[in-house]
Amino acid sequence: MAALIPAAGMGTRLGESKPKAFVEVGGSTLLERSVAAARESGVIDDIVVAVPEELLDRAQQLVPAARVVVGGAERSDSVRAALAVTDAELVLVHDAARPLTPPALFVAVVDALRCGDAAVVPGLPVADTLKRVDDAQFVTDTVDRSILRAVQTPQGFAAELLRRAHAGAQDATDDAGLVEALGVGVHVIDGDAMAFKVTTPFDLRLARLLA
Ligand code: CTP
Ligand code: MG
Repeated sequence: MAALIPAAGMGTRLGESKPKAFVEVGGSTLLERSVAAARESGVIDDIVVAVPEELLDRAQQLVPAARVVVGGAERSDSVRAALAVTDAELVLVHDAARPLTPPALFVAVVDALRCGDAAVVPGLPVADTLKRVDDAQFVTDTVDRSILRAVQTPQGFAAELLRRAHAGAQDATDDAGLVEALGVGVHVIDGDAMAFKVTTPFDLRLARLLA
């Protein structure tokens, strides 16, 4: 079972002086934490991380247990770069930007794959009321949140399916989106609040408090 960890983003919304995966939380980088969570799950035997080209050597020092490849301009390009070097039949894709993800969530995703799901994602109910707005920022309607889920990583796939989903040069904010485009069912299992993504400075403060 391989875990592919896209870590090549610039972290523009975070606004730190270095790419997001190399920012520290509680004394270790997001990259180290995401690799450690995958290892500690006990269900992953191959980890491939995709990082910015100029940080290739630094990444290899930080996560010697992982194989390191150069990522691409978009997240999907980075996932494709990692996918290209594994021959595992089942793969997880996990954002480096989710440093506090419990190892148990990796186990739950792998369990669902082993039970026959070809695509599985963790998801949480949405707490806020959701409004659709127009260009002038006026509410057009309130969306029924009961049928919505906020989706996280790790996301698990049969590798052959993920390869087909990535066969074009499409981009998507997650891998399940590309699988959905093929018309293949994606199973949602219970997510975990600790798997939140560090996107903004607020998220980084939260992660540092919780680490
Ligand atoms: N990612 C990647 N390659 C890219 C873009 C993103 O490997 N070209 C990774 C990020 O490193 C992160 C994950 O995909 O672990 C989720 O992306 P996101 O939260 O959007 O991170 P960034 O793209 O770095 O942030 P921003 O969009 O604010 O620049
Ligand atoms: Mg991004």
